[in-house]
Formats: sequence, structure tokens, C-alpha cells
Amino acid sequence: MTIERTLCMIKPDIVSTQRIGALCDRIERSGLRIIELRMLQLERERAAAFYAEHRQRDFFAPLLDFMCSGSIVAQVLEGEDAVKRFRQLIGHTDPAQADPGTLRADFASSIDANAVHGSDSIASARREIDFFFGKTW
Ligand code: RTP
Ligand code: MG
Repeated sequence: MTIERTLCMIKPDIVSTQRIGALCDRIERSGLRIIELRMLQLERERAAAFYAEHRQRDFFAPLLDFMCSGSIVAQVLEGEDAVKRFRQLIGHTDPAQADPGTLRADFASSIDANAVHGSDSIASARREIDFFFGKTW
């Protein structure tokens, strides 16, 4: 096992309903360590850059609408096998299909308002951590 870092975003549905603490509690109880944390509101251009891989998809505009609808909390999580472990903790993109006990099953209300983002690979994690916490931010 190697110690990895991954990028977590707590999405606006969780911030607006005052469940940041509840979600961070679940992250910490999973054994992952929160080593950086920043609350901010994404501008549309920045959200579009973050999710650029999806720009041709039908859900891109609603995704940007939602991600810019309120504040988010970006954090860097660290731990053994962090990228894969955090994706497993988050669960399926659509909360209706998420396994019981995953964050999306317990916190999300729809495929749009799905509570939390996690990097999907080590390469994505590097890019996304730099996006929020790199020198160019
Ligand atoms: P995320 O990037 O936010 O962690 O979510 P994910 O990897 O589970 O899913 P991804 O394919 O990267 O999609 C990004 C976000 O776009 C919305 N989406 N809607 N209507 C749809 O079919 C659909 N597919 C994706 C979701 O809000 C998803 O989190
Ligand atoms: Mg994704």
C-alpha cells in the first residue's frame, strides 16, 4: 500500500443544508486524514475548467449551474490507497444506485445534487489538488 492524496469537494447541497461537519466526520472515521481545506464559491469558468472532460455532455450546463449555486469545500485527503478508497466511500454517481453505507446513499438527493466529488485516478488527483491548492490558484 502507498500513501496517496486525493481531492474531495463537498458540494453546495451539503454546505447549504449545514451538513459539512457530518460529512467530514464520516471521512475522518474512514481513516482518511484531512490535510488541506478551503471553502469557496466557484465561478462558472472555473467550474467549467474543473469538469472540462464533460464539456460535450448533456449534463454539463446543469452540472455547472449546480456547482456554482453556492459554496463548496475543497479538501485534500491523505491515506493508504486514498484515491480508490475515497471513491468507494463516495459510492455511485446516482444516489439511487449507490450501495448502502456510502456517502451518496446517505447524503445525496439526486444525480445532480450528489453531495461530494472525489478524484477518479492518481493523475486526476494531482491535477485537481493543484487546481485548488497549487501555486497558481
Ligand atoms: P464527480 O466527478 O462529481 O465526483 O462525480 P462522478 O465522478 O461520480 O461522475 P462524473 O461522470 O465525473 O460526472 C460528474 C457529475 O456530473 C453529473 N452527472 N450527471 N445525468 C447524468 O447522466 C449525469 N452524469 C453525471 C453528476 O452530478 C456527476 O457527479
Ligand atoms: Mg468524476
